[in-house]
Amino acid sequence: MRKKLVVGNWKMNMTRSEASAAIESLLLLIEPTTEVELAICPTYLTIETVAQQFRRSRFHVGAQDVFWMPSGAFTGSVSAVMLKDMGCHFCIVGHSETRGRFGKLEIPESTVSYFAETDETVNLKIKALLFQSIHPILCVGETLAEREAGRTDEVIQAQLKGALQGIEGAEFRDGVVAYEPVWAIGTGKTCDSAEASRVCSMIRKALTDILDEDAAQAIRILYGGSVKSGNAEELFSQPDIDGGLVGGASLVAEEFSKIVRSA
Ligand code: 13P
Repeated sequence: MRKKLVVGNWKMNMTRSEASAAIESLLLLIEPTTEVELAICPTYLTIETVAQQFRRSRFHVGAQDVFWMPSGAFTGSVSAVMLKDMGCHFCIVGHSETRGRFGKLEIPESTVSYFAETDETVNLKIKALLFQSIHPILCVGETLAEREAGRTDEVIQAQLKGALQGIEGAEFRDGVVAYEPVWAIGTGKTCDSAEASRVCSMIRKALTDILDEDAAQAIRILYGGSVKSGNAEELFSQPDIDGGLVGGASLVAEEFSKIVRSA
């Protein structure tokens, strides 16, 4: 039986004092006995603050990205060794925002390639994380144009195959895959639960082919994209949806605790 997992992706939000206040509220609002596994992925600069506050709880801290080399002349980058040292349990990789596939363009088009994560770099990042025993949260998902062209399954299968190249099932069985349709991120448009369920089942089948049956059954598959307290219960009750990767709604402790309760 897979344990439900709810992860808050804070993206580029929260100063140290805001993070500290948000975690304090969360710890008061969420029952420590909850059966749900919970993690918050803050910016690099607040990982230590959140990790310290979570120290005596069962909650985990994670990162939003990583660079694959352990150390060296890579200005602006942070390695898996450093994340481990900070107490990170999870790390998001391949998010559509770091792949540079924005649902709505909030930055000049000419700068999109600055983000430009590819299946190949996602693969290198996953290997670096596994080497440090940090659990990757691998994000996959189609853009609106890809969905409208009927390419959803093909796009996601290619992302999974590229990201997991050369990785054994036994190595990734504690890993997580998050299905995040790009068009549903931060737009208020949620993928309807039947379609989210269909895609997550397709992902599990693809994981069986790419890795093996044992790993595919163990890997948690999350849904992400405008998850709110009003839609979480229905999404999380689908057989192949093992929880959520929550953006905007994870910034408000009250709302996030309701989502955790739905799981
Ligand atoms: P929203 O929940 O704000 O749509 O963001 C989803 C997401 O990108 C989580 O990683």
